Amino acid sequence: MSLIKTPDEIAKLHEGGVILSRVLREIREACVPGASTKALDQIARDRFKEAGAEPSFLGYRIADEGIPYPGAVCISINEEVVHGLPIPDRIIEKGDVVGLDIGCWYKGLCTDMATTVIAGGGTEETEALVRDTRACLVTGLSQIKAGKFIHDIGNAIEDYIKPKGYGIVRDLVGHGVGHKVHEEPQVPNYRERNAPRIKLQEGMVLAIEPMITLGGWRVYMKDDQWTIATQDGSIAAHFEVTVVVTKTGYDLITPWPDA
Ligand code: MF3
Ligand code: CO
Repeated sequence: MSLIKTPDEIAKLHEGGVILSRVLREIREACVPGASTKALDQIARDRFKEAGAEPSFLGYRIADEGIPYPGAVCISINEEVVHGLPIPDRIIEKGDVVGLDIGCWYKGLCTDMATTVIAGGGTEETEALVRDTRACLVTGLSQIKAGKFIHDIGNAIEDYIKPKGYGIVRDLVGHGVGHKVHEEPQVPNYRERNAPRIKLQEGMVLAIEPMITLGGWRVYMKDDQWTIATQDGSIAAHFEVTVVVTKTGYDLITPWPDA
């Protein structure tokens, strides 16, 4: 299927994106000390159902032989970067840095977004991490415009964040989205020497999602076969929006949940 979406598809993506953002906003507000991660997942399932949308992560497999994802939301706490599982007896504590990542199908198209929230407020260091990671996403987005290149996004993010001493996760990247949860092209959040030169075109739909750590860039997969965490145990943050490339820049498909 074409990576360029039609105006009709883009209209449907906008509708789905508004639903997705509304659901994420609600989960974000429920992400307080004492809440279980499973309870947040249940909110998403209920809200999607009411809206006529379906969670796109539920049952998703990254590889054919992989375990189907068991939730509607990925909830990744502290040193967990992404793909943390919702679990009934996992309780969020004050100061936890909680990544909330969510996707949905609506009218046959899918959107993807994530935010990071610090339950009950964090330290100066963790608050700065979250602020700076969000700023990475804004910086990456500022590059998007038909005629620019995919690598302009990662270059700008790296130039912005490297001098601040953070790590940029390299094993996971942004991606095309819409007909599938993950489509071509890959969108790295870092400067890559041998990156293929892919031009941004009007109608391309991309999920941009920087993952930034207080330490190094290396990550590993936990025994649950899903959760990705930092190797050095450093705290990580993650923000993501879905956008459509336009002649003059981009349109946000998933409105910011915290704006
Ligand atoms: N939201 C993730 C991403 O941005 C996808 C998660 S796949 C899941 O790429 F199965 F873990 F949910
Ligand atoms: Co994504």
